[in-house]
Amino acid sequence: MTELHARSFMPAVRTCSKTGRRCASGASAETTYRDMNANTEKRRAPVTVLGLGAMGQALARAFLNAGHPTTVWNRSPDKGADLVEKGAVRAATVKEAVQASGLVVVCVVDAAASQAILESAASAMKGRVVVDVTSDTPEKARAAAAWATRNGIEYIDGAVMVPTVSVGTPEALFLYSGNRGVFDAHLPTLRVLGGNARYVGPEAGMAALFDLALLDVFYSSSASIVHAFSLVGANGVMAKALLPYVVEFFAIMPGIADMLATNIDNGKHPGALDNLTMEATGVDHIIEASHDRGVDASVLEAVRSLFRRAIDAGHGADSLSSLAEVIRKRAAR
Ligand SMILES: NC(=O)c1ccc[n+]([C@@H]2O[C@H](COP(=O)([O-])OP(=O)(O)OC[C@H]3O[C@@H](n4cnc5c(N)ncnc54)[C@H](OP(=O)(O)O)[C@@H]3O)[C@@H](O)[C@H]2O)c1
Repeated sequence: MTELHARSFMPAVRTCSKTGRRCASGASAETTYRDMNANTEKRRAPVTVLGLGAMGQALARAFLNAGHPTTVWNRSPDKGADLVEKGAVRAATVKEAVQASGLVVVCVVDAAASQAILESAASAMKGRVVVDVTSDTPEKARAAAAWATRNGIEYIDGAVMVPTVSVGTPEALFLYSGNRGVFDAHLPTLRVLGGNARYVGPEAGMAALFDLALLDVFYSSSASIVHAFSLVGANGVMAKALLPYVVEFFAIMPGIADMLATNIDNGKHPGALDNLTMEATGVDHIIEASHDRGVDASVLEAVRSLFRRAIDAGHGADSLSSLAEVIRKRAAR
């Protein structure tokens, strides 16, 4: 056990508030639990991280850097040696890991893995707070929250919206949903993982829904950036030559997203400044230029198919936002 942990778990002798007698701090379950959640400048709350993949390790590292006594567990015990060197305690079992802290953060590959881990130590989790930042669907987050409630476990679902290298920084965006009181009580600790810790609602599935929606933007944008680099690359132009323009071009996207959101929420798609027929012609040009250079254009072909369906549905003179009418109709089928 490291010095840090030894100090944190040492049964310090203190005066019991009820009896006035001197007793060990571990003597009362109530006191122990309160102490476990205390997060003051002097003493950081003990935390447990289950799952030491790339992200789980980054989370545990952030807790350690902030001085939290940190217990870790991973299915394959070979991971996280540097965390142990830094002072983390490696638990041999999930149960042992959970018993070390009032707050348990889970970060594994998917909800099925996370649920299997939680179920393997359900009774030890009772009365504790589980924050599951594993990415999966809203439905699975809701099912996990319902299971936790049935087992007397406080459950907050979360989503990490930054890469591992940004974890632990003040700007790092994390989303959380679930019980507001539980979230607020643990916010000082959660801010250690990402200073930009945002509560998105009481319904457990909300963080996962926002996570998937933002990843939707991330994956399709990344695919088009790679396509753009490939397109200029086919002309012998280095990706880095286009890069500054890509970065500057992205500056228009917040304004575009704002306009699209306004139109979609209002259900009106005025096309005076950007009509879909004009935009579809632009898509055709990119596909033609890609084919001319032997570059795959499947991402843009999918975009063109969507545009064509919207135009066929009568939105040719409407804004790009009118694509939502076609996308929503497909979802409703
Ligand atoms: N990496 C990122 O940049 C990033 C960014 C944002 C969000 N996330 C999210 O963070 C979560 C974890 O990602 P990661 O990058 O840490 O993934 P990873 O490096 O692939 O690690 C996966 C983790 O899941 C564990 N695992 C897999 N199947 C399991 C099972 N059946 N039972 C118990 N444990 C199991 C693995 O344990 P073993 O070591 O034993 O295989 C490992 O700890 C994902 O939901 C991901 O979407 C990641």
